[in-house]
Amino acid sequence: MKVCLKAGRGLELRSLRLAEAEPLFALVAANRGRLRRWLPWVEDTRTVDDSRAYILRMQAQAKAGVGLTFGLWWKERLIGVAGFTWIAQAHRGAAIGYWMAQDAEGRGHMTAAVSALLRHGFRELGLHRIEIRAGVRNRRSRAIPRRLGFRHEGTLRQAEWVDGRFVDHAVYGLLASEWAER
Ligand SMILES: CC(C)(COP(=O)(O)OP(=O)(O)OC[C@H]1O[C@@H](n2cnc3c(N)ncnc32)[C@H](O)[C@@H]1OP(=O)(O)O)[C@@H](O)C(=O)NCCC(=O)NCCS
Repeated sequence: MKVCLKAGRGLELRSLRLAEAEPLFALVAANRGRLRRWLPWVEDTRTVDDSRAYILRMQAQAKAGVGLTFGLWWKERLIGVAGFTWIAQAHRGAAIGYWMAQDAEGRGHMTAAVSALLRHGFRELGLHRIEIRAGVRNRRSRAIPRRLGFRHEGTLRQAEWVDGRFVDHAVYGLLASEWAER
């Protein structure tokens, strides 16, 4: 099922389609240098076929109800990806992940996209808890859950091997009751 979420100011989150593998790969390739510092899959994304395989995996995840990933569209241009990287139905919990092109940074697009994901997650999917994990030194990523009222719950030490080093993760959580009170 295709889902489209409006995030305001002309920003839309749309289910990824196989036909979008080329623009998606082009976006990863153009931003490879900065994305690889924080995202382990960047190293393994070497051809358009890798992006095709990724989109197929995301479609299968969505069908199974264990994830929900969107292309981020602004002025009919693909500028990034955001979504629920995992959904645990039994616990009504999920995690949000995101990345965006460098030339789209600094305008509040990702904060608006994550806000739309929170609305969808709590209202439509009936989630109870949503978390975001960000590298402790990833200032821009950490600012997003902070801006949206998440609580900083702690640090997972050396949680992820990425770009040749272990990265500590700051964990942020938001409960449905906290979101409803805002
Ligand atoms: C993480 C990432 C998506 C954050 O991008 P971003 O542009 O900082 O985030 P937003 O789109 O929400 O924009 C926020 C910026 O826009 C500004 N802004 C302008 N209008 C705004 C508005 N209406 N609402 C919120 N912020 C606004 C904010 O002040 C902030 O800029 P500042 O940091 O210079 O103060 C981006 O840096 C990225 O893709 N990084 C590489 C991949 C990555 O690290 N992913 C996360 C892994 S955990």
